[in-house]
Order: sequence, then C-alpha cells, then structure tokens
Amino acid sequence: METIIRVVEDIEKDYEIIREGAEYIKKGQLVAFPTETVYGLGANALDAGAVRRIFEAKGRPSDNPLIVHIGEIDDINELVAHIPSSARLLMDKYWPGPLTLVLKKASSVPAEITAGLDTVAIRMPSHPVANALIRESGVPIAAPSANKSGRPSPTLAKHVIEDLSGRIPFIIDGGECSVGLESTVLDMSRDMPIILRPGGITKEMIEDTIGSIEVDRRVLTPPMEGEEIRSPGMKYTHYAPNAPVVIVEGNIDYMADKIRKVAKYYSSKYKKIIVLSTEETALMYGDEDFTVFIMGSRAEPSTIASNLFALLRECDERNADIIIAEGVEETHEGLAIMNRMLRAAAFRVIK
Ligand code: TXA
Ligand code: MG
Repeated sequence: METIIRVVEDIEKDYEIIREGAEYIKKGQLVAFPTETVYGLGANALDAGAVRRIFEAKGRPSDNPLIVHIGEIDDINELVAHIPSSARLLMDKYWPGPLTLVLKKASSVPAEITAGLDTVAIRMPSHPVANALIRESGVPIAAPSANKSGRPSPTLAKHVIEDLSGRIPFIIDGGECSVGLESTVLDMSRDMPIILRPGGITKEMIEDTIGSIEVDRRVLTPPMEGEEIRSPGMKYTHYAPNAPVVIVEGNIDYMADKIRKVAKYYSSKYKKIIVLSTEETALMYGDEDFTVFIMGSRAEPSTIASNLFALLRECDERNADIIIAEGVEETHEGLAIMNRMLRAAAFRVIK
C-alpha cells in the first residue's frame, strides 16, 4: 500500500490536508495524526471494520482496548452509560488535554474497541490537528499510539513512517508532540478512581480536583503470573528499542560513579553502550568508552518525558548494543517516566 505523507505547518493555511484526512476516516481507512502526547493511528470508532484495521496495521493483540478520541466534551454523551460528577469535574478542568477517563460504556461502542470490556476509555486531545481531524470527520476516532506494537511510541512523524509506512494510507505530519508520553488513564468506572497508566496529568493534579485516588500497583511493578489485569495494555512488553535497557537507580551524587561501574561490567559483553543521562549528571562523565545522551533536566521532568521515546529510537539508529538509563524520582511526572522506562527495560533495575 502506498502511504501518503502530508505536512501541516499552519492549521488554517493547510486545512485542505485535514479535509483529506477526514475523507479517509469517513471511508473506514486509517490516518496517523499528531496529538499533544504521541502520534495516534486513527479510525472511525463506530465502524467495527475500520477498528479491526488498526489492530492489523499495528500487530496489536486484540484483547488490548483502544481509546476513543472526541472533538467536543458533549460528544462523550453517546459513548458512555453514565458520567459521575467527579468525572465531570475532571473533564471541565483538564479537557482538552492528556487525560483519558475509563467509564461504563454505552451500547453504541463496538466490542472491537473495548476488547469486550463493559467500559470505554475516552479522551479529548488538545492538539489543533487532532481536534480538527475529529471535528471534520464527524465521528469519534479510535486511536492507539501509531507505532508497531511493542515499539516506543512515536513523537515525530518519522517514527510513524519507520513503523507503519506501506501499512497505512495517510500520515499527517504536524511536527513534534509536546508532552511526549501517552495520556494518563484514570479508571472512573469504580467507586475509588484508580490510575491505570500515569501521564502528563499527574496524581496530584487529579487529587487537587476530586480528592484522593489510587495508583495501580502495576504502574511500577510487573504483573504476577495469572493475575487479573485491569488495563490489558499493562501486560505486554512495551516501548522496547532493539537493544536491551537497564535502569540504574540511586543517589545522584554517586550516579556517575555507579553508571561507570555498570558500563565497565557490560563492556566485556557489549560493544556499543549508550547512557541515557540527565543535565544534572551529564557533566560528571568524561572520556569514558560510552556515548551519553541527555534526556532532560531532573528539575524539569517534562523535558525528560518529551525526549524519552525519541532517544530510545535514536539508540537503535546508533546501533546500541545496550542502553543504560539513569532512573528518576517517581513523583509527579516522574511516575509516568519510570512507568515507561521500566517497561522498556523489562523491569531490569540495578540499585
Ligand atoms: O496519549 C494517548 O493516550 C495516545 C494518543 C494517541 O491519544 N493513545 C494511546 O493509546 O496511548 P494506546 O492504545 O497506545 O493505549 C491505550 C491504553 C492501553 O494501556 C489500554 O489497555 C488502556 O488504555 N485502555 C483502553 N481502554 C480501556 C478500558 N476500557 N479499561 C482499561 N484500560 C483501557
Ligand atoms: Mg501504545
């Protein structure tokens, strides 16, 4: 299949491209498009056949449900059975934006989207291209991240092209995604809301609005054999570059020393070692026999969040044999960063 790639620089000037994208959606075809979190691979959420194409193009297991993206707050009404008042508060405060709410579904939502669950995940993205595409299509858009299943999520159109070129008809290139990690997934279908996947809207931000919530234990720990999984996405290997990843955790005063020791240990087995460091520690490295990439600043975790996935892909491009990543504090946005890093590392941590 030929893949057409169109660049939107100015949403008004380039509106014809949005219209073109919407035509594909209306015909039941797939369109990759930018959101403020990561690129999404969209299809008409009310068309079961179109939704099945998403799973085929990504190689995604069919028991992993999709997020439905809406263009206006009121569009949620036809998709869910009931909106609790606390959900309403969060929608008013954080939509459009990187917060996904899981609610009891309405019967109009195809089982292909929800993988047979009685709940549906909904989000209203703030990226102008995403928003315009949904409105112009006139239907809600189901969209997982636009990567091959298991790979780091795409934050640039070139990542989508790497993974899906030839498998989908249309890609809208809207530049870099600002948040860089996928949305926070908050399950509000139960009495006590629980974060299933941390993201840019943090636990603290949610609690400021609706009071205490829980965080699923599996955000930072691997699921146990046979355990029932509330968010099916959590059980798969995720965000993995080709090279193995290990995380080094500890006091940042000793971080560089520790990384040097770990790198030395691996140097007998691996040739090309890449260290993912932070601005605070990068200066502590000298002429060691490894390459240092700077993820961002510990003082500003959002910078790390927005670079992480692109750097994991960059490690592949540079033919890394092993990636050693500095861990960050698991508070605020750091929770989302560590959730992704731990999965990329298959939970290999050196403390
Ligand atoms: O930022 C994002 O959320 C991006 C952009 C494109 O919007 N989308 C995204 O979709 O990350 P995806 O498919 O890669 O991740 C969706 C996550 C999965 O972990 C899935 O298991 C969970 O949401 N999910 C979807 N529906 C659910 C449901 N009904 N109950 C529990 N978890 C659900
Ligand atoms: Mg994904």
